Amino acid sequence: MTKRRHAAVGLGNWSSKVPFSWHYWHMSKSLDNDPVIISVAAYSANPIAYAEKYAAHLLDRPTRFASFLSPGSQILDLGCGPGRDIKIFSEAGHKPIGIELNPAFVDMARRQGDVIQGDIRNISSIFSPTSFDGVWAQASLVHLVKSEIGPVLQGLRDLLKPNGRLYACVPATGETGWLDESDGRRWYTTWPEDSFETAVRTAGFHINDVTHGPYIEVWATKV
Ligand SMILES: C[S@@+](CC[C@H](N)C(=O)[O-])C[C@H]1O[C@@H](n2cnc3c(N)ncnc32)[C@H](O)[C@@H]1O
Repeated sequence: MTKRRHAAVGLGNWSSKVPFSWHYWHMSKSLDNDPVIISVAAYSANPIAYAEKYAAHLLDRPTRFASFLSPGSQILDLGCGPGRDIKIFSEAGHKPIGIELNPAFVDMARRQGDVIQGDIRNISSIFSPTSFDGVWAQASLVHLVKSEIGPVLQGLRDLLKPNGRLYACVPATGETGWLDESDGRRWYTTWPEDSFETAVRTAGFHINDVTHGPYIEVWATKV
């Protein structure tokens, strides 16, 4: 399932197979000006408060996603945060694994299941093609700059098995740029009108369903 071997990171069944990818972005990105690194760090101000605030957030979505997949499906939870949806997927009889860059969230999410500490932008170097039945991206692509999203979506397509499912939720309103919040500064990339749907389709997905509002939720299948 994984492509390379690097330092083991203590992930149960996955630990001997997955690379520890912090050094990839250390080498390729400046910590001083990378929007993802700065935004992800902001969650460390109070990770417990974040977990509590979003504990009941949109729970019907992961439940619905789980129902589309055969029992025991492999689900990649991108930017899993404290692990709320990993728990839901496990309880539905699936085999989720999270990937998350914030170390406090990694520790919290590991109480719910397997989690790799890594950067979504390196996803294609972490997992082998056709490893997953589903990819779940609940508000996890939000801090990537727009030019990074297309390659990541294509990488996610490659990670899916034939007819594999994708869910992705991103902001639709507001400006793309920096937002100073009470716990820190974060970059948000917003997707007006049908631009995110178009990006997902361009990456090689069939769009099954789209919900428009302050957030755009795209349900898609690999073609
Ligand atoms: C808005 S939170 C959503 C968390 C969780 N999916 C949820 O629904 O509560 C965004 C999450 O994505 C993570 N994240 C953002 N960019 C990432 C990246 N490039 N690699 C790994 N994790 C990332 C953040 O650390 C944070 O946990």
